[in-house]
Amino acid sequence: MTDTAEATTDIRHTQDGRTGRTVRFSVFRGVPGAQASYVTYDVPEVEGMVVLDAIHYIQKNLDMDLACRWNCKAAKCGSCSAEVNGHPVLMCKTRVDDLPEGTVTVAPMKTFPLVKDLVTDVSRNYKVNAAITPFTPRKDEPTPWKIQQHDIERLYEFRKCIECFLCMDVCHILRNHDLHEEYYGPRYFVRMAGLEMHPMDDADRTDEIRTAGGIGFCNITKCCTDVCPEHIHITDNAIIPMKERVADRHWDPIRRMFTKKKQTANAADAAE
Ligand code: SF4
Ligand code: SF4
Ligand code: FES
Repeated sequence: MTDTAEATTDIRHTQDGRTGRTVRFSVFRGVPGAQASYVTYDVPEVEGMVVLDAIHYIQKNLDMDLACRWNCKAAKCGSCSAEVNGHPVLMCKTRVDDLPEGTVTVAPMKTFPLVKDLVTDVSRNYKVNAAITPFTPRKDEPTPWKIQQHDIERLYEFRKCIECFLCMDVCHILRNHDLHEEYYGPRYFVRMAGLEMHPMDDADRTDEIRTAGGIGFCNITKCCTDVCPEHIHITDNAIIPMKERVADRHWDPIRRMFTKKKQTANAADAAE
């Protein structure tokens, strides 16, 4: 081999980016109503490889029938949520070289009904979303609205949500107790907090948070906060303040009296 040929080979090797290591993946395969199993695939590791790359390698080279959902590969669409080595994560944000040595298991989110392999049906979340009282602007507020910067920053945190539903997957109220009909779950407490704390919103959702939302079931374990890829402080900044509002409105007799008065006045305005 000439010097030039060696140089070309080296460049190809660099461009290819393979590390020379093979990583074994054990991937959940199954559809509802049939026997599910974990199938083993050996994947050549590439520098900087994330779990989604490995799944794509398997789809292209080893098993075209493997189903997964993804879209952006940039941790922004929230589609590629799965459980890697038992932890709810975005597959596109989970580097293989950050995982412990040994076989990497990849499974679908447990909390949602299975569609196929790594794909789950998250449509129930959109039903909850549609049920929430929407943004209700204050009447007669002069425009353009003037909003304090600290209010904008507070709301911005909640707006970072990418609807990956990893917080819903890990929340034991849904995952272990299956209270999907009684409990909105952390993602929707984040949305409700964003609406409730909006300075131009005039709706009062405290009843909804307590009854349909079932916020009383949350025992502030913070598991949801721990898995949020957008680092939203779900418990500290959304759930706890809303629990406090619920407690104030419903269990403080003086506030309760004023709330009742306001509701009666609003109902009279609406009837006019
Ligand atoms: S803090 Fe509440 S919402 Fe979050 S995981 Fe725990 S129980 Fe679920
Ligand atoms: S709050 Fe965080 S974990 Fe939950 S859906 Fe939004 S981005 Fe995902
Ligand atoms: S592919 Fe979009 S978040 Fe992973």
